This record gives sequence, structure tokens and C-alpha cells, in this order.
Amino acid sequence: MAVAVFCGCSDNNKKLGRPLNAQEKRGEKLFASNCKKCHAADSGLATQGPNLEGVFDKKFLPSGAPANDERVKNVLQYGRRSMPAFGQVLDDSQIDSIIAYLKTQ
Ligand code: HEC
Repeated sequence: MAVAVFCGCSDNNKKLGRPLNAQEKRGEKLFASNCKKCHAADSGLATQGPNLEGVFDKKFLPSGAPANDERVKNVLQYGRRSMPAFGQVLDDSQIDSIIAYLKTQ
């Protein structure tokens, strides 16, 4: 019985206790193809950019700017120092999906 209970939860996101919704899943894929080579979202490993695990749980981003949708969106659209801009690569709804995904990590 216990096995069945645990198996049913295998898809659940650790933080939310539920599976990712469609937008968050889309964000996860976009993150994997655009961001993962420089950022880890789900491990403590720092690669080229700062670790983004729990980035929205903190009050401030690594740069010291407030950790909110608006600020993160701005970083994604225009880049920041050695972080490239994605404004030409990702449209608004794709950026929103990535933000939704980051909130689940
Ligand atoms: C080529 C490597 C690279 C890629 C690709 C990249 N980043 Fe970054 N990112 C960086 C670096 C380096 C920084 C640190 C910038 C600084 O403040 O000097 C950073 C910073 C950030 C920050 C923190 C900004 C702040 O104000 O502290 C966020 C959030 C972020 N990246 C999200 C993303 C997301 C989401 C993607 C995918 C769309 C992405 N990054 C793709 C290298 C990258």
C-alpha cells in the first residue's frame, strides 16, 4: 500500500507538492534549452551564472535587485553584464513561462 502511495507522487514537484502545470512545464523545457548551460535551477551547483534554485523565495536577486517578475523579465529581455539578452530569442509568453517555472524551483 505504501508503495502505491509513494509511486503516485513521483511526478509531484518537491516544492509545490503537485505536478507542474502546462505553463510551468513549458517553462521547464525553455529553461533547459536556453538557460541550463549557464544556470542550475534545481541543484546547488553554480555553473557560469548564479544558481537559480529558490530565486523567487529570496527578497533579492544575486545582483541585489528585488526578486520580482518585472526585474527578472527585464534581465531576460536585456541581459545583464555577461548574461546574454533573450529579447530577440524568446517572446513575452515564453519569458512568462520561464518565470512561472523558476517559481517552482
Ligand atoms: C551564457 C550564459 C548564460 C545564459 C545562457 C543565461 N544566463 Fe542568466 N546569468 C548569467 C550570468 C553570468 C549572470 C550574472 C550576471 C551579473 O550580474 O553579472 C546571470 C544572471 C541571471 C539572473 C540574476 C540577475 C540578477 O539581477 O541578479 C537571472 C534571474 C538569470 N540570469 C536568469 C536566466 C534565465 C532565465 C536564462 C534563460 C533564458 C539565462 N539566465 C540564461 C549567464 C547566463
